[in-house]
Amino acid sequence: MTKFNIAVLISGNGSNLQSLIDEFKSSQLVNISCVISNKEEAYGLERASIANIDSHFIDHKEYNSREAFDEAMIVQLDHYKPDLVVLAGFMRILSDTFVDKYMGRLINIHPSLLPKYKGLDTHKRVIDAQEEYHGATVHYVDNTLDGGPICAQSSIKVTTNNPKELQKDIHKLEHELYPSVIRDISEQKIYLSEGKVIKNK
Ligand code: GRF
Repeated sequence: MTKFNIAVLISGNGSNLQSLIDEFKSSQLVNISCVISNKEEAYGLERASIANIDSHFIDHKEYNSREAFDEAMIVQLDHYKPDLVVLAGFMRILSDTFVDKYMGRLINIHPSLLPKYKGLDTHKRVIDAQEEYHGATVHYVDNTLDGGPICAQSSIKVTTNNPKELQKDIHKLEHELYPSVIRDISEQKIYLSEGKVIKNK
């Protein structure tokens, strides 16, 4: 059986990538075919190499437009023909061309209970606002910032005033949530239809 093929885009540490590597390394269903980073120093590239996964550094600074950089990523991704493109701490806004090409096959994980706290620095903002709950969201990517249709969320009670501590707690949630959503998508238990998330669980 052909495995469900995912490509992972990163910019940094790649702890979410690691959770996917650990989850799918002996999976009969899902294969991580490549990892792409726009940052050469991203530790996620090292994680990919340790796991024997093809990895590519594509430097966005070498391209004079967002579209040109995204086109270079598309060229690389096309070699792998991914069923799903997974953003895991990829810190670049994607062009409409990229998003339109992968619409319905492009997901992101965001460290907040969307639609609350789009954008950066979510943990500090949640503490400052004295929120009782915080969490993580996996969503399909569309042409809005952190605004695409939601696949799943996971939440915890906020029990610290320290953004770093809260970030650690949210990372733990993410490392459970992302693999489980990707498994569900690979089994068509979650998919996008006419802009809406359908769950067949
Ligand atoms: C995660 O918190 C994710 O939600 C956000 O970026 C962070 C990436 O962390 N999009 P890591 O590189 O996976 O450790």
